[in-house]
Amino acid sequence: MSAQKRILILGGTRDAVELATQAAAIPGVVVVTSLAGRTREPVIRSEKTRIGGFGGISGLADYLHQQRIDLLIDATHPFAAQISFNAAAAAHQVGIPRLMLVRPAWQPTPEDCWLTVESNAAAAALLPDLAQRIFLTIGRQELAAFAHLQLLWFLMRMIDPPHPDVPIPPGKLLLERGPFLLENERSLLQEHKIEAIVSKNSGGTATYAKIIAARELGLPVVMVQRPAIPDGETVPDSSAGLTWLKAQLNR
Ligand SMILES: NC(=O)c1ccc[n+]([C@@H]2O[C@H](COP(=O)([O-])OP(=O)(O)OC[C@H]3O[C@@H](n4cnc5c(N)ncnc54)[C@H](OP(=O)(O)O)[C@@H]3O)[C@@H](O)[C@H]2O)c1
Repeated sequence: MSAQKRILILGGTRDAVELATQAAAIPGVVVVTSLAGRTREPVIRSEKTRIGGFGGISGLADYLHQQRIDLLIDATHPFAAQISFNAAAAAHQVGIPRLMLVRPAWQPTPEDCWLTVESNAAAAALLPDLAQRIFLTIGRQELAAFAHLQLLWFLMRMIDPPHPDVPIPPGKLLLERGPFLLENERSLLQEHKIEAIVSKNSGGTATYAKIIAARELGLPVVMVQRPAIPDGETVPDSSAGLTWLKAQLNR
């Protein structure tokens, strides 16, 4: 390794933004954040950012090699499974340390009424017997899984609008970026007479208020479980990520 250390952070999350900001303040460290390019106006605080896919495992391995990356931190969203497996394979190929920043999943409290499912398709299958008016908070990429539910009504929240070619279910689009406040979430559910929520188990605080609001209002939450992640070292937050990074730099 050269005196200057080059870190690649795979981003797309608040944790990645926080870690990139903290890591860039370490003398002698160059941080590059990589984004998939899904969001029109991403939150970018990294001095160096690259946007777009790498072209699979080999593309990422080439990038790591060409850019002389010393350490790879995978701070992607818990539901972005493909890039995490690609990162594991590419880091192994190139022979550099890799860390996954995985925020802990939400856990139900005794007051919660969760129906836990493995996929959006499984969530969609439950809905007709559960509710008529649904708050769908799974982002915009997988709305098609609910498009056949033409007799139900959906309030669909996401950052950017869905692609025009993607079929979506009937209802209303709400284009908003978190964090969301509890009082607003409560009002939103009441105003739209929502009877159930569909959510990914994303973890973290930014989108947790809807879960509290559902608990307060006694609404069921169809909770989509996380996909598997590759083996490897994980930390729960950016400060633990920073500790790992500093330990690697001192080796
Ligand atoms: N899935 C979610 O619910 C969700 C929610 C919030 C934010 N995000 C963020 O949105 C991005 C895309 O999510 P996804 O579910 O589509 O991911 P994915 O299914 O794991 O990845 C699909 C492809 O997108 C490219 N990609 C993903 N993350 C990338 C990154 N950080 N930098 C460069 N290329 C990346 C890779 O393309 P190549 O194979 O060409 O390299 C990857 O194979 C992720 O960065 C994630 O952190 C996802």
